[in-house]
Amino acid sequence: MNQYVIQGGKALAGEVTVGGAKNAALGILAAAIMTDDDVTIENLPNVNDINVLLEAIAGIGATVKRIDAHTVCISGRTIRSETVDSEFIRKIRASYYLLGALLGKRGKAAVAMPGGCDIGARPMDLHLKGFRALGAEVVTENGFIKAKAEEMRGTHIFLDLVSVGATINIMLAAALTPGQTIIDNVAKEPHIVDVANFLNSMGANIKGAGTDVIRIRGVNRLHGSTYSIIPDQIEAGTFMCLAAATKGDILLKNVIPKHLEAITAKLVEIGAEVRENDDSVRVVATKRLRSTQVKTRVYPGFPTDMQPQIATVLTLSRGTSTVTESIFENRFRYVAELVKMGATITVEGNVAVIEGVERLQGANLEAPDLRAGAALTMAALAAEGTTTITQIEYIERGYEDFEGKLRELGASIIKCPINDGKSTIGGIA
Ligand code: UD1
Repeated sequence: MNQYVIQGGKALAGEVTVGGAKNAALGILAAAIMTDDDVTIENLPNVNDINVLLEAIAGIGATVKRIDAHTVCISGRTIRSETVDSEFIRKIRASYYLLGALLGKRGKAAVAMPGGCDIGARPMDLHLKGFRALGAEVVTENGFIKAKAEEMRGTHIFLDLVSVGATINIMLAAALTPGQTIIDNVAKEPHIVDVANFLNSMGANIKGAGTDVIRIRGVNRLHGSTYSIIPDQIEAGTFMCLAAATKGDILLKNVIPKHLEAITAKLVEIGAEVRENDDSVRVVATKRLRSTQVKTRVYPGFPTDMQPQIATVLTLSRGTSTVTESIFENRFRYVAELVKMGATITVEGNVAVIEGVERLQGANLEAPDLRAGAALTMAALAAEGTTTITQIEYIERGYEDFEGKLRELGASIIKCPINDGKSTIGGIA
């Protein structure tokens, strides 16, 4: 088990290149097995969640050839089983996309109950409701979700609430389902558009991704494709907040500024300078920022996956801020860790009230989940003194070479085995 040992207090400055979007990649990799032709996926982030999904895909017999760290070639021709189970697959959320993909392609699928970060109950009723509406029989037994269909038929599905996962999963199954499927009240996140664009590049007929209604005309087969994944909105947003938290100056390369608008708007509102170019964004925050109110919303609102990071920025800003989490009910577990560093935050229900403090102090912390782990790393880099962060496996699920990218920006951070941590503090540059 590794930990981060961080010596904080430096303004971080320089350039960072943002990788491919993890959550888009998860949907796209599942979609890739739906054709029997070869598919090449480029700009794949080299993070643990992706590698676990690739193992699961290989585990059912698909051919997975890693061309380089960010490119993979997949062929679904060799699939020999519709049952997805492995030691690791239960730990990631996106294993559920293999249900939609296999149901669409083979008319049956059994996938071990998905896990993922503990940020709330995360039910799957809407996914299953969608599959049933398409004609599948779905049961949950012995730790598996099993779906099968003699015959599936396009239909009109209204999602009771906006769900990223259900939108993508139903879209996957419907792409190869005869007839027209209309999915109403869908999520509009950039990665949904990316998965739809990828399916269309394989010959699917999907219209309306990025709006409230997606219309899918099922096709008989999908063909091969070469596709490059969009940049990761959340990785980009994390580095934007990092510039704000450390009073730094960071240029983010390979981003789509439009996807970052909600984050940009908040940072500008609290006094940071954000300069947008075609495919880069520079965040400059040389002085102490101001307080504000943030409420997480589905896209194009402020992303729930950026909630811990903006809360960390506000912890160091002047005045009283509130952060309201409206998507997941268990997303404030990092607050207790920030309080150990000297933050003044109280949580009532789904609202965190933050009294900004001038500085934080290093402490021994535990990352409670992926995005919270990134936020605590930011806090540690802004804080005075030394911080250790354990459970960084969470961070590695979704950030590629996080510590390497941070070091490029001037951060003093090392990754080391937990027992050796203290003895290597002195070795930090
Ligand atoms: C995805 C992302 C996650 C992000 C979240 C919201 C992946 C792998 N994960 O998660 O990083 O935080 O979107 O942007 O892409 N819900 C139901 N029933 C369902 C499905 C969802 O009640 O069948 C509820 C959830 O409990 C939650 C809300 O809907 O309150 C939104 O969840 P959803 O958008 O589905 O999130 P995930 O797909 O789990």
